[in-house]
Amino acid sequence: MFRIAPSILSADFANLGRDVKAVIDAGADWIHFDVMDNHYVPNLSIGPAVAAAIKPYCVSSDGATVPLDVHLMVQPVDEIAVAFAKAGADLITFHPDAERHVDRTLQLIRDQGCQAGLVFNPAMSLGVLEWAIDKVDIILLMSVNPGFGGQSFIESTYRKIERVRQLIDSTGRDIRLEVDGGIKPDNIARVASAGADTFVAGSAVFNEPNYKYVIEQMRGSLDQLAKG
Ligand code: DX5
Ligand code: ZN
Repeated sequence: MFRIAPSILSADFANLGRDVKAVIDAGADWIHFDVMDNHYVPNLSIGPAVAAAIKPYCVSSDGATVPLDVHLMVQPVDEIAVAFAKAGADLITFHPDAERHVDRTLQLIRDQGCQAGLVFNPAMSLGVLEWAIDKVDIILLMSVNPGFGGQSFIESTYRKIERVRQLIDSTGRDIRLEVDGGIKPDNIARVASAGADTFVAGSAVFNEPNYKYVIEQMRGSLDQLAKG
């Protein structure tokens, strides 16, 4: 099942609760929450208090919980990951190059009752997965360099998605493959056909006045692909 995860990095921060609700009413499956520390990445965004504040808005009109997908671009990871779990995160992903003891951090996140995942920058090799994939619920591939919304999709990501799809299939486990950066209605089908099942989109959604229209366009491309 495909999931569309709008990144609230491009939302209206002066009206965040309203925007989270609006994008869920427009069809968002997950809310993607980008955490930047001006250390691991050259930008600063939002922290656990903001996650706790928007959590009550992460509910669909039929009352279902909409997962809060926290992408940590911070170094170190452990303490802030626990703070986000307590703030209501459902999934927490981190960059393995930002924490010394990757296995321990994955376990720590799972012990908090969250799904845990690893994020790979465009030039980062996938080597750590050889020994960590058993503790991973989600793999997030960056299709831009992290730190900013509104950048262009890096082409080599398609090959990387194919590689990770094979790896996941070889485990036989249910691991999500999420892609983040530069995703728009006109490339989402290609990202999906390479093997991704979860799509982060920030500027493509929030820079348009009609969120529903963009999400429906994306869903339409994915449906067409599913039909063959
Ligand atoms: C970049 C963030 C992304 C970003 C995506 O560091 O991780 O989630 O918001 O934004 P767009 O969709 O505009 O590339
Ligand atoms: Zn992100």
